[in-house]
Amino acid sequence: MIGRREFLRGSAVATGCLLFSRRAPFALAGPTGADSRIEVLLGEPLGTVSPGIYGHFAENLSGVIYDGIWVGQASKVPNVNGIRKELIDEMRKIKPSVVRFPGGCFADSYDWRDGVGPADKRPRRTNFWAEGESGNAPASHRYDPNQFGTDEFVHFCKLIGSQPYLAANVRSLPAEAFYQWIEYCNSPPGSTTLADTRAASGYREPFDVRYWGVGNESWGCGGNFTAQEYAVEFRRYTTWVPRYGQELSFIASGPNDDNWDWTRGFLEEIVRKGPRELRSIYGLALHYYAWNLSRGRTKDWDQGKGDALKFDAVDWYELLRQGDVMESLINGHWQIMGEIDKDHSIKLVVDEWGPWYRPGSQATPGDQLEQMPTLRDAVFSGMTLDTFNRHPEKVAMANCAQLINCLNSLYLAHEDKFCVTPVGHVFAMYAAHQGGQALRTIFSSPPVNYDRDSKPASFWGLKGSASLHDKGLVLTVVNPHVSEPRETSIVMRGAAMRSGTAATLTHSDIHAHNTFDQREVVTPQTKPLDVAEAILLTVLRPLPSPG
Ligand code: AHR
Repeated sequence: MIGRREFLRGSAVATGCLLFSRRAPFALAGPTGADSRIEVLLGEPLGTVSPGIYGHFAENLSGVIYDGIWVGQASKVPNVNGIRKELIDEMRKIKPSVVRFPGGCFADSYDWRDGVGPADKRPRRTNFWAEGESGNAPASHRYDPNQFGTDEFVHFCKLIGSQPYLAANVRSLPAEAFYQWIEYCNSPPGSTTLADTRAASGYREPFDVRYWGVGNESWGCGGNFTAQEYAVEFRRYTTWVPRYGQELSFIASGPNDDNWDWTRGFLEEIVRKGPRELRSIYGLALHYYAWNLSRGRTKDWDQGKGDALKFDAVDWYELLRQGDVMESLINGHWQIMGEIDKDHSIKLVVDEWGPWYRPGSQATPGDQLEQMPTLRDAVFSGMTLDTFNRHPEKVAMANCAQLINCLNSLYLAHEDKFCVTPVGHVFAMYAAHQGGQALRTIFSSPPVNYDRDSKPASFWGLKGSASLHDKGLVLTVVNPHVSEPRETSIVMRGAAMRSGTAATLTHSDIHAHNTFDQREVVTPQTKPLDVAEAILLTVLRPLPSPG
């Protein structure tokens, strides 16, 4: 249990697992003097926190699959059937609900048939991302050896206790290839030739894949469709698809950040064939990357990006401001969806999210799109997961982009080197929210005030989320301030606290990060808590000079 009076140091993510008793109708806050207050309303459930929110994304992109996940059975790197063992061990700790594969943009140039059958007979193909690879990149990053295909991916998911989410190719394969992929994965043993092919590879039992993405970013790399054109394709790809007794959840390619027209245009076209068509859609994908740190100076994709490691306090807040947009995107798209899907049967699937910096900070030189996650990205990630938790009726799934050796990665790996990033630790700290009842929680705190290019700017002082698990409460809190602690009273309306633990992730240096050589610079500190105690988590040091 978090003590009733807590100090949350500057730039910190904290989680508390609390046990409580319902006997006391109202637990008062601790001694006065706190500058902030968190009020958990046990009587105001918001909905179940979908485990799917704690999902991941692994694209066949540079070092994500080859080197990150797949090292091969003959590798000296410890592996389980070719899959990096250390990654499996770490992922088992975070309850990874679902993993999306094989893209991303890669998905719409991928033929799943290249990645099944005897490994030594599989073709090599030019990777979608080949053009962006540097001259010294391994050949497997440019020319896909197809050693990691459907079987290996589903096996990986089984090893880590996750659901597979396959993204199908709508741009360059026909609808027939889509339903045959489902046939390969889900048809019963001995029923079809593709089930025999699967069995011949050692997988007699069906994979029972439930989640299927129908294209990716279909407004761009996934076919350059208009919303209306894509809706027609979506209907065609998802009509009369074989089920084999497995519920199939189709995820439509959705908008990029605030492209409201895509959401409206897609759904309007879908229902032109009648409102029943809405039932074929489980989720509408939303992609949102926080990339423009130019403070309003440019909208150019390359010019606007900031640096992952070299940043000052204003850059820190700029990233958080960008990340905070997520909540308005969820609310905005949800509202438009409700105009057409009046019962809200379609949920949001935020299947790509995270910060995106300019190249240059990668742990492994040459890894395209790889960047070094710092404490800033941990705070960003905690804030984003809290946002999803606060909208359980809207967000069914979310997939952090991307799992390893890429953008907002939980892990970095190269050959036999491996580390958990601060983002990975946030996922471990937040995992306990899964499946709980989200509770309305009020955070009151002085805002962060700072100077943004000679103009006064502010950002919220504390935010988070809470979820109820029988007699346990999970509370996560983000303090975005680069240097100031917050002393916080925690009030539970409807119960009294009994015991608990608290974990805090923070560091005196806002740039702090973990590397292959220094793997434990940023790690959570966990301790049991005494309810009666007012706990001082840390003493602050001055903000170090940037860069
Ligand atoms: O995550 C990297 C890329 O970002 C994905 O391939 C694409 O969907 C998005 O634009």
